[in-house]
Amino acid sequence: MYGRGELRGTESDKPIAIDKITKISIEQGAMLNKLMRDHSVERSLEIGLAYGFSTVWMLDALCSLKEAEHIAIDPFQKKHWHGIGLAQAARLEFAGRFEWLPDYSIHALSDLIRKKQRFDFIYIDGNHRFDDVIVDFYLADQIMRPGGLIVLDDMGMNSVRIAANFIINNRAYELVEQSIRNIAVLKKKHDDDRNWKHFVSFEVHDSSKASGLQMLKSSLRKAVGRCRRTFRCQ
Ligand SMILES: C[S@@+](CC[C@H](N)C(=O)[O-])C[C@H]1O[C@@H](n2cnc3c(N)ncnc32)[C@H](O)[C@@H]1O
Repeated sequence: MYGRGELRGTESDKPIAIDKITKISIEQGAMLNKLMRDHSVERSLEIGLAYGFSTVWMLDALCSLKEAEHIAIDPFQKKHWHGIGLAQAARLEFAGRFEWLPDYSIHALSDLIRKKQRFDFIYIDGNHRFDDVIVDFYLADQIMRPGGLIVLDDMGMNSVRIAANFIINNRAYELVEQSIRNIAVLKKKHDDDRNWKHFVSFEVHDSSKASGLQMLKSSLRKAVGRCRRTFRCQ
């Protein structure tokens, strides 16, 4: 897939020319794959199928597990992406169940919440506006099991970095150390138990001042300091 300028989709008999931007790097794909294997993931979900690059890395991590399930949410898969993600996923010998939900993430995630579904790993790479990322996270959290991982893509964007900073300061998630700067890997500590007026202020930097990871680490240090002062722990 990475070497090709054209890929087959479900919506046309001929290969379709693909843009060069819409794919995760090989290093980032390998990291998603490693994180899933290291955390014994069996049920995963992603927002943003596009050409299926991330999907193929994620399905590969689950490939040999018969009970595994992977869901990809994307309302534009057939119209905009010519079904290329679906066709690429179909090329794999995936023993588990792969499902595409052709809906906006707010609707698909809300349906999964109502069905009381739980996942071990959720990769958020859909609409990258700040409020979309926050809403995707808010809904994804409700189907994430404690101990599972939520990964935010495109930490180079202020919108995503600020969303990640809110999460680290306000939600029961900790940052997992890893080497890919473009993603934030967030581990869920427990289900949400904040009271109705909970809010911890956090700093908003722009990208010229600090790298995403540096900003998150500094934010995390401040959040831990605040927690120690509040609870008078050592
Ligand atoms: C950057 S692309 C995903 C790339 C893919 N993860 C990869 O690396 O191969 C973003 C995708 O999000 C989808 N998308 C945009 N808004 C969405 C929404 N509200 N709900 C679900 N998917 C959305 C787009 O159709 C697009 O396929």
